[in-house]
This record gives sequence, C-alpha cells and structure tokens, in this order.
Amino acid sequence: MQPTHPAPDGAGLLREILAINESLSRLKDLDAILDRVLAESRRIAGADAGTIYLVENGRLRFGYVHNDTFNREGDVTRDVYADFTLPIDSTSIVGHVAATGQPLDIADAYAMPPDAPVAFNPDFDRRTGYRTTSMLTLPVTTSQGTVSGVIQLINAKDDAGRPVPFSAQARTVLPLLSTAASVAIERAIMTRELILRMMQMAELRDPSETGAHVTRVGAYSAEIYHKYAMMQGIDETLRKKTKDLIRVAAMLHDVGKVGISDRILKKPARLDPEEFAVMRMHTVFGARLFANSTSELDAMSGRIALNHHEKWNGTGYPGHLDGPADTRPPGPPRAGAQIPLEARIVALADVFDALGSRRSYKAPWPDEKIIDLLRSERGAHFDPDVVDAFLDIFDVIAAIRDKYAEDKPGQADG
Ligand code: C2E
Ligand code: SIN
Ligand code: SIN
Ligand code: FE
Ligand code: FE
Repeated sequence: MQPTHPAPDGAGLLREILAINESLSRLKDLDAILDRVLAESRRIAGADAGTIYLVENGRLRFGYVHNDTFNREGDVTRDVYADFTLPIDSTSIVGHVAATGQPLDIADAYAMPPDAPVAFNPDFDRRTGYRTTSMLTLPVTTSQGTVSGVIQLINAKDDAGRPVPFSAQARTVLPLLSTAASVAIERAIMTRELILRMMQMAELRDPSETGAHVTRVGAYSAEIYHKYAMMQGIDETLRKKTKDLIRVAAMLHDVGKVGISDRILKKPARLDPEEFAVMRMHTVFGARLFANSTSELDAMSGRIALNHHEKWNGTGYPGHLDGPADTRPPGPPRAGAQIPLEARIVALADVFDALGSRRSYKAPWPDEKIIDLLRSERGAHFDPDVVDAFLDIFDVIAAIRDKYAEDKPGQADG
C-alpha cells in the first residue's frame, strides 16, 4: 500500500476514523484486525513500517508487523508469525510506552538526547540493513484506561519517499484510531478463546490439551488461501474478507467430533471399518451445527465442516447431501471444483497438521515424509493449485508451526 497523506480537514478525519472503526467491527479474526489496524495507522501517518504488540501475562507479546521496504504489497512473510515477548519497562521503547501509557514521538532515533528516558535499540537495523529514522510509538488503551498494547510506526515519508518526522496531524488522530483498535482487539481475543474452548469440548475432551493444533489449522488455511488468491489474481477486497473468515471457520472444521463417542474418538489404535463409518459422520454433524444461518461465517464454517474430507479425485467423504439437514445417505463424493475452495484448502492444512502431530493412534511423521505424501497426492487427494500455494509458502507454514507448537504455554490464545 502506498502511504497517502491524511485528509486535510477535521471533519474528514473524523469520518475516516468512524469508517475504520466500522470496518474493524466487521472483521472476525485477531490477526486480520491487527493487520488492518497497522495498515490504516500507517496510511494515516504515511509510515513505511509498523509493529503491534499486545499485553499478555504482564509482558508485551509481538502481534503483527508491516514493512514496505522489505515486503512487496500482498506478500506475507514469516516475520508476521514471529514469536517473542518484551518486558514492560524502559529497556525498550515499546516497553516504555506500555509502562507509562504515554505516546513517544521521536524525530530521529539516532539523535535522541542522552537524557531521554529510554534508549533506541539499533539491533534490528544492524541485522537487516534497515535505517530507522522517525518513530511514533502509541499505547493502545482500553475503555477502562488500561494499556492493552502498543503500536509502533516507523519512518514517516514525504512525497518523495524520504523519511521525515511524524506530522502533528498523525499525533492527534492516531490515538483515536488506537481506541477503536482496542475494542476490536478485545473482542477478537474473546472470539479466539471461545472457539478454543468449544473445540476443546468437541474434539479433545481433555483438559491437558492446548488446542494449539486448532489455531495452526486456522493459520495455515488463511495463509494458503492468501497465496492461492494472489496466484489466481482474486481481487483484494474479496481476498482480505475471505482470509479473515477462513481462519476462523477452519478452526471449527472438526467441531462435529462432539457427536462421536469417546470409545471411537480416543481409541489408541486403528479404527475398524464400522468405527470409521461412525467417525466419518463428524463432517455431517459439524455441518448441521451451522445450518439455517444467514451469517457468512456460519455458511463458510458449514461448507468446511461438511467437505474437508472430500478429495480432489472424488474418493473422499461424506458425499453430496441436499444441505446439512438432509438425513438420507449421502450421494457420491464430490470431486474437483465441486468441493468448495475453502474445504479444499482446509483438507490440506488438516492432513499436514495431523501427519506432523502425535495422535493416540500414530507417531508424528518427519517433514520429508509429509512433503513426499503431499506431492504424491497433488491432483489425487488435493487440489494441485492448493498444493502449489502451500509449497510456495512453506517458510511461513513452518513459522506458524513453531509459533503454535504443542508444548509451549499460552500460545493458542495469543
Ligand atoms: P485427524 O487425526 O485430524 O486426521 C485428519 C486427516 O489426516 C485424516 O482424515 C487423514 O486424511 C490424514 N491422516 C491422519 N493420520 C494419518 C496417517 O497416519 N496416514 C495417512 N496417510 N493419513 C493420515 P481421515 O482418515 O478421514 O480421519 C478423520 C479423523 O478420524 C482423524 O482426524 C481422526 O480423528 C480419526 N481417525 C482416523 N483414523 C483413525 C484411527 O486409525 N484411529 C483413531 N483412533 N482415529 C482415527
Ligand atoms: C525491538 O524490536 O526490540 C523493539 C523496538 C523498540 O521499541 O525498542
Ligand atoms: C472455487 O471453487 O474455485 C471457488 C468457489 C468457492 O469458493 O467454493
Ligand atoms: Fe475432520
Ligand atoms: Fe482434523
């Protein structure tokens, strides 16, 4: 996105903030909200780069990053799935802003006065060759007045693209945006927690499980979709909306396992054919939970729940139904593009994650064996274009897997 300068008049700015607030309220997923908040903040301030951190367990957890100098528009890099925390204190600029709750506006990071309350850490510039100049760091403050995060914008640019200090207008307007952001962020965190709890009940029924795999399948699906959409030239508005919905809907793909007995779900061995016939019903049970709804998220969740075990070559299950309430035996399996795109994507994300994870009935597979299987199933189990998109972003996929690894505490809801 090219940074553009803000509308000149106050009323125009107010309308703009209201419009952004409205668009944030339509997004479902936390990452989609952080991405949008950064994009809008950077646009208003004309900033080259930006990062969002969220307060979690008394520290700042990295949330999302943009950098126009390093990344082409529309590319997602593994940096977005970085995973680190910083203390809330004056050992970093973002930590200082979270600790004080006050914005900090720096015209040149390399010319800070020696008596400044916090020092600039040039490690990122040294490591990457980036040149940080101006920095505007703002607290994200809840309606109760507590700091829930920090937005840091880097390098405001003039019309010629040269770094300049942040404008007075940016300093005035961005705190309004950050208030809107805090509401949207809080809601999105609640949505993720709600889904994870639901999935724990449905799929895991085991309080020792983290639910991290549910988060992984959601993130894999969102990024595979994004790459697929870039490859197919799907228009940007549809792409962003679908990416937001698919992340949430994919997390719910196995919610129908709630209808499968523990004897089958937790069997520490291979299922016999009769047991597997019961297990296959989790697709239909899941789809029924989303029937008769008019929301786009429910509709997509239903398509994914129903179709995520269909195969590109027509050998999957459950097969055609006249809608999820149809209780007759399913018709022949769907094939190719009869399978909804979102379900073709979740099919791959789910199998990739299942193969790499320990199950009661199998040990995790090594990466090479998984990739071999995905390649050999290209055009058989899986849509060949979906396999290509997946392989193309494997570095992002690996970053997601690291970030939401099974044995790391507090990862699934961050
Ligand atoms: P899941 O464990 O989440 O696995 C999702 C999909 O990953 C499977 O769909 C399958 O396509 C793939 N997958 C998982 N493990 C393997 C494997 O060892 N080899 C290969 N080639 N593919 C694998 P599928 O087969 O339709 O199974 C759906 C669900 O049924 C599974 O979800 C799991 O909950 C259950 N299930 C399947 N087979 C067994 C089994 O032998 N024992 C038990 N206890 N559950 C099973
Ligand atoms: C960091 O990347 O360490 C945070 C930058 C800062 O605010 O010091
Ligand atoms: C497709 O099948 O290629 C797109 C239509 C859909 O989203 O189901
Ligand atoms: Fe499933
Ligand atoms: Fe699954």
